[in-house]
Amino acid sequence: MLQRNIPGKRGHIRPLDSNRDLNPVADLIEVCFASTLDQDGRDYLRHIRMTAADPALIRWLPGLGERASSPLFGYVWEQDNRLVGNLSLIPIKKNGRWIYMIANVAVHPDYRRRGIAYELTRHALDHVRARGVPSAWLQVRDDNFSAYELYTSVGFIERSRRSTWVSGHTNLGFSPTGIHITQRIPQDWTLQRAWLTHNYPPDTTWNMSFDINRYRPDWWNQFWYWLNGELQLHWVARRANGSHDTLGFATWEPVRGSTDMLWIGAPPESEDSVLCTLLPHIVHAMRDRRRPIAVNYPYGHGVSSFLDCGFTLQNTLVWMEYPCN
Ligand SMILES: CC(C)(COP(=O)(O)OP(=O)(O)OC[C@H]1O[C@@H](n2cnc3c(N)ncnc32)[C@H](O)[C@@H]1OP(=O)(O)O)[C@@H](O)C(=O)NCCC(=O)NCCS
Repeated sequence: MLQRNIPGKRGHIRPLDSNRDLNPVADLIEVCFASTLDQDGRDYLRHIRMTAADPALIRWLPGLGERASSPLFGYVWEQDNRLVGNLSLIPIKKNGRWIYMIANVAVHPDYRRRGIAYELTRHALDHVRARGVPSAWLQVRDDNFSAYELYTSVGFIERSRRSTWVSGHTNLGFSPTGIHITQRIPQDWTLQRAWLTHNYPPDTTWNMSFDINRYRPDWWNQFWYWLNGELQLHWVARRANGSHDTLGFATWEPVRGSTDMLWIGAPPESEDSVLCTLLPHIVHAMRDRRRPIAVNYPYGHGVSSFLDCGFTLQNTLVWMEYPCN
């Protein structure tokens, strides 16, 4: 790890104090992420401010320790009697082991390029190492050059890049001829599982709502979802030439937040025709919900098909790991 001079003499780092820092942190996040804040981001800020306004909850929070939800734990930078930098640390389980997510790294525009984010990140990594966890992870937008440079300079390594596509108001799709859409049958599961796992490998799904075991078509799963009132729908694209060869799958499910999710399983050779067939069909089928549909997809794949079907690129996130060992 690079060593640097400690920035600006008057500034200092300290642990976040949920009694007094939540509103200034929310203000800082709002200023620093103004250009990328979506509905989920605004809900998140509202949640922080509501927490700050609730004295009973604030009194209760310290008892939750580090496992409280972000940004109730982390470090802040104070300078000129202001809170000008923040970094949240979120312990989370990855494949059964506790790791830390680093989030909400933000430095007020008037205080940038003084090494504050670098010091916050170094300090957070000291904290992570001291807890003996194997790694720290974070996500950064691929167009956020300054943050990517920051994390690389501290020692983070890029592990994956995923794009999120969101359905638009207009359904521009077209259906390639020679393909028809059917329901899923239990015999489809072997192929569906293989293709879903190809597009959503375990090393990328630990931080998503994706769970391959949930989509198994066995009676217990179906019963369980029925019991819990949970909804899950599957579509299959098959060749219509008599062979009925399976070309790809789509699984829709509602999730918390402002969009519903669609998971696509298709091999590279039929990916585009599957997307062009299933996306418009599903957007049309789910129109009464009046909620956009989001697809998390490997970066650079299916781009023209998503655009042709009226989807827009919400973001591409780079996942980075700092291995502690
Ligand atoms: C990204 C951000 C946190 C950096 O804060 P900062 O305190 O200015 O960063 P530092 O001064 O500690 O910079 C450390 C290193 O990061 C890189 N870096 C930071 N800002 C950069 C920029 N504008 N252009 C290029 N590299 C940059 C450089 O490698 C820098 O080292 P150097 O100054 O020796 O060249 C700040 O710009 C910010 O708040 N941005 C908006 C919120 C955001 O995008 N957060 C990250 C979310 S993942």
